[in-house]
Amino acid sequence: MLNIVLFGPPGSGKGTQSQLLVEEYGFQHLSTGDMLRDEIGRQTELGLAAQKVMDAGQLVSDDIVIGMIQNRLDAAPDAFGFIFDGFPRTIAQAEALDRLLEEKNTKIAQCLSLEVPIEVLTERLVERGKKSGRGDDNLETIQKRIQEYREKTTPVADYYDHQSKLSKVDGVGEVSEINERLRSIIDHL
Ligand code: AP5
Repeated sequence: MLNIVLFGPPGSGKGTQSQLLVEEYGFQHLSTGDMLRDEIGRQTELGLAAQKVMDAGQLVSDDIVIGMIQNRLDAAPDAFGFIFDGFPRTIAQAEALDRLLEEKNTKIAQCLSLEVPIEVLTERLVERGKKSGRGDDNLETIQKRIQEYREKTTPVADYYDHQSKLSKVDGVGEVSEINERLRSIIDHL
């Protein structure tokens, strides 16, 4: 199994690049943001609780997202590999992911971190907010999401760096150029 963490701040292109890598390599795409929005769309109890937190630009509790990831891992024992998009976002999530993968005799091969300046992130998300209908794509919540990322999520990059599994990738440019940068790393794993 080849397992990749696609890491980066809100708007860095994790979802966009994950879709391309899924088509190119056959990874299973595990996006906790998509899973939570699916719960919201179905108006489940979990979705209704998560929506308030997401609309405030804050992180949903570790227990909820770890549980969702565990269910998806259990459901796909024969996958070629997984792309984790938007997960892990805290050290507790990163440690839990390592434990879950170890139980399946596999591990994270590499964390690919998309590096994008804040002004570019904000511009992309404000632009998307004009038509996305996402409750968190407004300027105030975007700024809160970026702050949460800085405070709670950047330590996750250090976590993978200490394991010699962090690759920083320039996330500015054409989508296809960034895809090439990611592929050139994945092809050598
Ligand atoms: P999540 O859905 O994970 O959102 P996010 O991390 O804020 O990321 P985005 O989806 O906004 O951006 P992205 O990096 O995927 O970029 P994208 O490709 O979409 O999380 C949402 C919320 O759910 C969180 O705030 C939290 O509340 C909760 N949550 C989720 N996971 C959690 C977890 N593990 N723990 C706790 N809470 C969790 O691109 C963005 C835009 O830019 C698009 O319009 C795209 O078309 C455009 N774009 C992409 N690439 C380029 C490019 N190269 N040039 C120009 N435009 C580009």
